[in-house]
Amino acid sequence: MKDTPLAIVLAAGLSTRMKSKIPKVLHPLAGRPLLAHVLETVRAAGARPLVVVSKESASAGALLDGDGGVAVQDPPRGTGDAVRVALASANGATGTAYIVYGDTPLLRAETLRRLRSLLETRGAALAILTGEVGTDNAYGRVVRDAAGDVARVVEARLATPEERRLPESNLGAYAVDLAWLRSAVGRLRPNETGEIYLTDLIAEATRDGKRVAAHRTADLEEGMGVNTRVDLAAAEAAMRRRIRDAHMLAGVTFRDPDSCQVDADVTIAPEAVIERGTILEGKTRIGAGSRIGPYAILRDTTVGERCTVENSTLEGATLEDEVTIGPYSHLRPGAYLERGVAMGNFGEVKNARLRKGTKMHHFSYVGDADVGERVNIGAGTITLNYDGVRKNRTTIGDDAFIGSDTLLRAPVTVGAGATTGAGAVVTKDVPEGMVAVGMPARAIKKADRRKKGP
Ligand code: UD1
Ligand code: CA
Repeated sequence: MKDTPLAIVLAAGLSTRMKSKIPKVLHPLAGRPLLAHVLETVRAAGARPLVVVSKESASAGALLDGDGGVAVQDPPRGTGDAVRVALASANGATGTAYIVYGDTPLLRAETLRRLRSLLETRGAALAILTGEVGTDNAYGRVVRDAAGDVARVVEARLATPEERRLPESNLGAYAVDLAWLRSAVGRLRPNETGEIYLTDLIAEATRDGKRVAAHRTADLEEGMGVNTRVDLAAAEAAMRRRIRDAHMLAGVTFRDPDSCQVDADVTIAPEAVIERGTILEGKTRIGAGSRIGPYAILRDTTVGERCTVENSTLEGATLEDEVTIGPYSHLRPGAYLERGVAMGNFGEVKNARLRKGTKMHHFSYVGDADVGERVNIGAGTITLNYDGVRKNRTTIGDDAFIGSDTLLRAPVTVGAGATTGAGAVVTKDVPEGMVAVGMPARAIKKADRRKKGP
């Protein structure tokens, strides 16, 4: 049986080219830190444990989720030094290691597996991923010998003009024999930049009479390293295309895919339709047959089956099946809409449950409330949930009819089957089945809207 490879993920660099206060590998890409994409890739390639080399242990440690540990490299003295630090913290490991850079989020797990099998079939000490990316870039250049074997990698900043014109570059993913790596990494020395370069390992292997295998890929996207914010935008565009394509192949329709953004952790069931200009963020989940957009923004929101959400913003909300929203509504955290709820334009719901079949069609705010089944919320209804000191709750019973422009001064309860008149200012509880009108609203007569039993 094959052994489990170790993964070494380099993430301790200074990120000077990003001009940022936060480390490069923690910049978000499609809703996740760059580093989280790379960790998912090495996990999917079957690696355990994962050793992340970082300047500090907290943020990388949180992303590791118990699958490995952080090796602290401070100050960062180059990628070769980073690997040395990683090995010092993984001294029991034997067999094969993957070495990847934390700033290469588009690398695929199957490519790492391929490097590993190349290492084995060629009996090589090291296998590297290369590609022909052209000559105007910062990648290391691959120098081959007369026989066509990889002899060394020279960094663009140290390369001669002829070397810079070499068509093949180092895309920055490696499979390596750990026993050899341990002996070779100690021999790496700082170069004229003062750093220790991992890429000097290739010449080291040649010197040791070891074979270096190369997988030259045509999918250059995979090697996109993020060094600047321009690179970040390019990598994000590529990642988002990849995510949308995967959803489409799994049965989701995108009407105008390039206009939509879907984060990496979003799930969408088959037969959903995503219309133009729609943004799905965080842990959003969309159920089968739902139609989202055009121009909807959903953040950490769960949508059931056969729902319609048009041109609205939903954050931290939950929709059961067959709910319709919009256009121009806003659901905020804690909004929970049960089956068949219909919300029209210019409505806002926050921290409130609307039970089955309730309708809220125009210009209303419902916050900190529990609204029953089949309630009709008239245009312009507002829960006055905040008295300047605390948030208070409004409760509305099943089958109630809230007249247009009703103000509900919380804490207050409108009983089941009750009615409020247009413009009512409800400051006291309205008993079940009563009609309340005026300012402040008085209960004037009984007219129960609940269906009588059989
Ligand atoms: C590196 C490769 C280059 C390759 C390119 C592919 C080296 C010397 N060069 O260059 O051949 O074409 O990636 O994208 O390896 N890091 C550390 N500790 C350090 C320095 C860097 O952990 O001391 C980490 C960084 O956080 C980063 C990764 O290593 O995630 C790569 O470093 P970076 O400076 O971006 O290397 P490149 O110049 O892109
Ligand atoms: Ca880089």
